[in-house]
Amino acid sequence: MKDLLADLDELKQEAGGSLAAAESRERLQAWHGEFLGRRGRLAQLMRQLGEAPAADRARLGRSANEVKRELEESYDARQEAVRQRELETALAAERVDVTLPGRPVDLGRLHPITRVLREIDRIFGRMGFQTFDGPELETDEYNFELLNMPAGHPARDMWDTFYTTVPNLILRTHTSPGQIYAMRSQAPGPLRVILPGKTYRYEQVTARSEWMFHQVEGIAVGEHIAFGDLKGVFVAFAEEMFGPGRRLRFRKSYFPFTEPSVEVDVSCILCGGAGCLLCKQSGWLEILGAGMVHPRVLRWGGYDPARVSGFAFGMGPERIALLKYGIADIRYFYSNDVRLLESIRY
Ligand code: PHE
Repeated sequence: MKDLLADLDELKQEAGGSLAAAESRERLQAWHGEFLGRRGRLAQLMRQLGEAPAADRARLGRSANEVKRELEESYDARQEAVRQRELETALAAERVDVTLPGRPVDLGRLHPITRVLREIDRIFGRMGFQTFDGPELETDEYNFELLNMPAGHPARDMWDTFYTTVPNLILRTHTSPGQIYAMRSQAPGPLRVILPGKTYRYEQVTARSEWMFHQVEGIAVGEHIAFGDLKGVFVAFAEEMFGPGRRLRFRKSYFPFTEPSVEVDVSCILCGGAGCLLCKQSGWLEILGAGMVHPRVLRWGGYDPARVSGFAFGMGPERIALLKYGIADIRYFYSNDVRLLESIRY
């Protein structure tokens, strides 16, 4: 009996020590098998009880059961502790550090031409101009004839034209057909309108010119409109668009639908007037054509040229954007290279 009691005690000590060292579920499971399993060491000991003297059996049995209960309790407690530790480790490994800086998000931004178009809209809006729209596919009549260029007129050569497979339908070479739409919608009343949009020319692509580009047409018709009004509008416009100090140059020019006609240049920002590729070494960049609306065009628009006069202009937003943002080449705008768009500081 002594031996068995001592064995029980020894088993209890050993099991306790080994349990304390079990750090994982796997080790715990192995421990359970070794000590408390059906073929485990306690079970083996208990089987030996049958061979003990009858008088001792009851006491031995109680002691063995006591040990079994204690070991089971310790096992449960240990299992809970191990589970808790594993949970804590997992949580620590998955912890999100909210103090880490976030990943940068790429934000979209407006295309420089969109910005310039909106700015033009805003500036002229404040001067009382409404914004109109016109079609990009035009007829020969609107693109040329009603602008005082009948078939065969040599001035048509100024606009190299994209024709379509539909007879008489062309891509507009300028926004000037919009003058006719605008006048016909308001005549004989006063008129102050801009018409922004895309235009197309069958031309060589260079640093200054693309085959597709924008124009903003403008037209004002009323009883006392003079050339000085046109000039004043552009001086105000240039100051708003480019800031003070930019120089403007009015050059006499020719358009069949205005008389007199001018072209307006802005001093080249890229070279500061010293001459560069963008300004063809001239120090100036042309941004618009303009003039007093030709009497014949006024009449076709529904006005009486004896009673009213008007000025009209067509400006190039791409040229304005080149100057405003110091970009050297118009081809960048539509080459879809995001580096250009990102490089512009608005
Ligand atoms: N339509 C002309 C062009 O494309 C510009 C212009 C517009 C000139 C209005 C005079 C008046 O060159």
